[in-house]
Amino acid sequence: MASRTVGTGLIAWLVAGLLVIGAWPPAMEAAAHEPSQPGSASDARVRLDLKPDQREAIKLTMREHLETLEAIVAALGRQDYRKAADIAHLELGFPKHHEAMQREQGAALPKRYQELAIEHHQAAETLAEAIATHEMTPILRQLENTIRACTACHKAYRL
Ligand code: HEC
Repeated sequence: MASRTVGTGLIAWLVAGLLVIGAWPPAMEAAAHEPSQPGSASDARVRLDLKPDQREAIKLTMREHLETLEAIVAALGRQDYRKAADIAHLELGFPKHHEAMQREQGAALPKRYQELAIEHHQAAETLAEAIATHEMTPILRQLENTIRACTACHKAYRL
């Protein structure tokens, strides 16, 4: 009984010690690999130099992009390939690019940003073509490519 108390006491001291030096809980190690805090010194994303209206225009387009992905997945779930392909083309492909550019009112966006924008619209056009095959494996592969084109830009730029 006495040795058990000593053992428990030792463990309590050990845990307290690790907490003090910040080495516990072990999950903290995983947290180190998470994205850095927005705007912190370790946030390597390039900040876009925009006017408030242009910033709001980009955010609106972005929220629509996310809703579009939702609508595409919903249509695919219903096997409504026609609708899914139409949405991918009209709402995420090059027609959407033109709408977004009009909204942004000549915002001075870096060349690489513009290339990433084109790449994601191109990915959506290729997705529309993949959807036309009615085969889930190529469709999912291209859906992944399309979403990766979103995250590629998110990793590089911020407002
Ligand atoms: C060419 C660059 C680019 C592409 C491509 C892109 N985004 Fe964004 N998106 C941004 C930037 C920049 C922000 C602002 C991020 C920040 O400041 O942390 C953003 C923010 C967002 C937000 C937050 C909007 C808000 O109201 O705050 C959503 C949602 C979003 N993007 C969805 C998407 C989706 C979905 C796609 C792909 C279909 C996509 N984005 C493609 C650049 C891009």
